[in-house]
Amino acid sequence: MISFNKPYFTGMELYYMQQCIENKQASGNGYFTKKCSSFFTEIYNNKRCLLTTSCTDSLEMTGLLANIHPGDEVIVPSYTFVTSALAFVREGATIVFADSRADNPCIDETKIEELITVRTKAIVVVHYAGIACDMDNIMAIATKYNLLVIEDAAQAIDSYYKGRLLGSIGDMAALSFHETKNIQCGEGGLLVVNNDRFSKRADIIWEKGTNRSEFFRGEVNKYGWKDTGSSFLPCEFVAACLWAQLEALETIQKRRKQIWDLYHEGLQSIKDRFLSIPNYATNNAHLFCFLCDSLEERNRMLKYLRDNKIMASFHYLCLHKSEFVKKQSFASFELSLPHAERYADCLVRLPLYYEMEDKEVEYVVNKIVRFYKQ
Ligand SMILES: Cc1ncc(COP(=O)(O)O)c(C=O)c1O
Repeated sequence: MISFNKPYFTGMELYYMQQCIENKQASGNGYFTKKCSSFFTEIYNNKRCLLTTSCTDSLEMTGLLANIHPGDEVIVPSYTFVTSALAFVREGATIVFADSRADNPCIDETKIEELITVRTKAIVVVHYAGIACDMDNIMAIATKYNLLVIEDAAQAIDSYYKGRLLGSIGDMAALSFHETKNIQCGEGGLLVVNNDRFSKRADIIWEKGTNRSEFFRGEVNKYGWKDTGSSFLPCEFVAACLWAQLEALETIQKRRKQIWDLYHEGLQSIKDRFLSIPNYATNNAHLFCFLCDSLEERNRMLKYLRDNKIMASFHYLCLHKSEFVKKQSFASFELSLPHAERYADCLVRLPLYYEMEDKEVEYVVNKIVRFYKQ
């Protein structure tokens, strides 16, 4: 069976975790947390970068930092993971669901303005498959209406918009290091705070509502309860694992891109089914996918691949069609968001992981070509 995903370990993870044990440093914000944070601080223009236990936690931090209250509205694409919306629902927000673009699942920036009301507080954008949303247009809308922009960059490590690293453009950004991502530590995440007005509070929310970070930096001689917050920081073992991966970022990305290119070249006969990567965006080889013509064809495709020992997968279900939304807001459930619904029904993701062999990619390619020939 060709797996859909196999988390890759560089070989240094255990060695670094062992160092945590030898140095008797297990809780968070220690040596490896600082090494990972410095890595990100450097690539994110010296902005505050906080390691978290998941992208979901990072998104929850953005919900707290954005001061979302009941009655506020947050615009979120429907074609995304649950927690892109849940992080704001927890704070009482009403989610206003946006459609995707016709050529890729990123939010349709031309439809955002019509969703804005006096209650809108923030726009969440999701860089699907590491493909950048059209950030210049989105930031211009946000500036015009004085809204926050939160980048859900869960899949977007090492990807760019017009030369700018994804996660560096909105007011805040959240990345994921879940084992399905290019760089992984089992479960892990990052919060990037680009808008300096949130940095100090981010430290406090991260450290369980206390100013312990200031204390550790020697800026105060005792610390205490300052604000809301939670235990968002990972332990040192997680950070040690992540550090091993960050050291290998270039190598990992090089191989993933080779695999992605093999798919891209091998499947040229179905290139009309590919997502578009606009000129302003780069490809970080997070995933390789294509679109079937219908849900029925997608079901047949997934079964055919499984019968041929290939684990392929669909991706998100539309959030506006979820049971949760149906209970909360029937009007949202009834919405028609045709592009998002098409991606939910028709998208197929193919196996892609660092240790995948060329001959396995070729095997998958041949099976798909044969499916469409038949
Ligand atoms: C777009 C998006 N946002 C958020 C998440 C949540 O990430 P995590 O599992 O790190 O909480 C995911 C998970 O895959 C995702 O795809």
